[in-house]
Amino acid sequence: MPKHIHVSVAWPYANGDLHVGHLAGAYLPADIFARYHRLAGNHVLMVSGSDSHGTPISVEADKRGVTARSIFEHYHERFLLTQQKIGISYDLFTHTDTENHHRIAQDIFLTLLERGYLYKERQTLLYSQIEQRFLPDRYIEGECYICHYPKARGDQCDNCGSLLDAVKLINPRSRNHPEETLIVRETEHYFFELGKFTDALLAYFDKHESHWRPQVMRFSRNFVAEGLRGRPITRDIDWGIPVPLEGWDEKRLYVWFEAVMGYFTASLEWANNIGQPDAWKAWWYNPEAEVYNFIGKDNVPFHTVIWPAELMGIDGIYHDRKGISLPYDVPANEFMNIEGDKFSKSRNWAIWLPDILTRYQPDAIRYYTAAMFPETHDADFDWEGFLNRVNSELLGTWGNLVNRMLSFAYKRYEGKVPDYDALTSADEALLTKIEGGLATIGGLIEAVRLRDALGTAMGLAREVNAYLNNRAPWSVIKTDPADAARIVYTTLRAIDNLKTMLAPFLPFTSQRVHEYLGYDGQMFGELRIEEYAESSRTHKALVYDGTNAVGKWALSALQPGQALREPKALIVKLEPEIVERERSFLGQPRVEGEIVL
Ligand code: MF3
Ligand code: ZN
Repeated sequence: MPKHIHVSVAWPYANGDLHVGHLAGAYLPADIFARYHRLAGNHVLMVSGSDSHGTPISVEADKRGVTARSIFEHYHERFLLTQQKIGISYDLFTHTDTENHHRIAQDIFLTLLERGYLYKERQTLLYSQIEQRFLPDRYIEGECYICHYPKARGDQCDNCGSLLDAVKLINPRSRNHPEETLIVRETEHYFFELGKFTDALLAYFDKHESHWRPQVMRFSRNFVAEGLRGRPITRDIDWGIPVPLEGWDEKRLYVWFEAVMGYFTASLEWANNIGQPDAWKAWWYNPEAEVYNFIGKDNVPFHTVIWPAELMGIDGIYHDRKGISLPYDVPANEFMNIEGDKFSKSRNWAIWLPDILTRYQPDAIRYYTAAMFPETHDADFDWEGFLNRVNSELLGTWGNLVNRMLSFAYKRYEGKVPDYDALTSADEALLTKIEGGLATIGGLIEAVRLRDALGTAMGLAREVNAYLNNRAPWSVIKTDPADAARIVYTTLRAIDNLKTMLAPFLPFTSQRVHEYLGYDGQMFGELRIEEYAESSRTHKALVYDGTNAVGKWALSALQPGQALREPKALIVKLEPEIVERERSFLGQPRVEGEIVL
């Protein structure tokens, strides 16, 4: 029975280009996972979009003296192109400034209000007399009152990860005017009464104890154990979703309250876009469905506590019974550092995807990133490592195997898969070993152990190389053509299997191997940028169309006589000079280049 798998992917703030931290933290793991499940015949719905609200966008807009809307539109467009280029196969990558998202977020607010999960409270906040407004949390900096890190942000401490209350910071300062003495002033806001969900959240954790990553479970349990207080979900700002109540025109919904709803709202948008308005229910109201949230570790409490609580609070919405799906797993990744240092946008200590996509094959970037996934601890993207692993593993172990064998077969067997009489036990042994990989690697991917899954596939590729070096068909062909034919056949079939196992990781080059082996059709569907019209505006989205995809997570049944296609070099060899060149960009001012497909 095919399963329904929802792949909910963190929504990037549209205030700057995508970088390898995004890729390693959430988008690539999500994509590998989704592609695998599609090959395995499951029903995948993978959604995300640009997080267009929130102070990260406003801060950037202020800095450039433009509107928040123009910032988010600019980066949304770039996100579409970048992710199309690197192949992140969203069924829908939309944004949070659609009418659809606004309407449903407001509905959710009203549903929670009606059901008694929201309350109003007067709150004291930091007010800037220079700016004549309450300062959003992100505009405030000060000493963390938990770990005493001196440069904590008003909303969260980057050192200890705690979510903070800006007014409680020690020596709070405005980021725009650090010299100003901020005043504490009263305002009124709506609060989400998280405490009402304490028992339900603990039961939810118990149910998922065995398969969540230990660090995610520990963090979530601690978060609840510290006591769930009401959280303000409205803000004194003008960029965001209006509060759907009279007299609240000056305020907006808090970005984190509404952005997580995007997993749900985008699913409805997707269903509408394909002309089947109820299709989303197969994931959201189906006890057999599994929802996976791919995020970075700084987002954990929003996805294991706040979002599940919101879902519990609206259960039954848009449906005739309860049973809305909560995240089944939240495989949060740790951080990907760069050349030994933390990512920093302000210092430009970053590796920007649009930039490196002009210089390297998408699969080379995907390969190194996946091989380094920070699944259990922080990892480090370093260019020396990139050079070595692309050249020695992706090219040395896999690309050369493909090219060497496919060229040999193409030249020596009239462009066809050779016919053979019978396989020897050594050939059978190799194939058995390789074929076993399908179940092992599938199991690892299902458990979101993607780094191990890739390592296992590459280990099998090494086995094929060892077999080939040992059996040396290029010499054997001179003395024993029948033996050479069975060696070549066996190797091609092994390559065919490996192509499938590597396809979720390396979709672009696996497609080429698929073609060299003589198969027709696309293993995966197509990623397109589409425009959708709503009543007052239009928006663009990235859309995966899998209608014609032929790939299957299944054993190769390669037939002798199948016509091959002439292979070309699969993986580009990297020159050692790239290391110094790439390092020289770090920490230097960057000019955003145009993204060309
Ligand atoms: N925009 C947030 C970030 O970049 C992530 C939001 S995930 C969401 O950290 F689901 F809440 F949208
Ligand atoms: Zn701290």
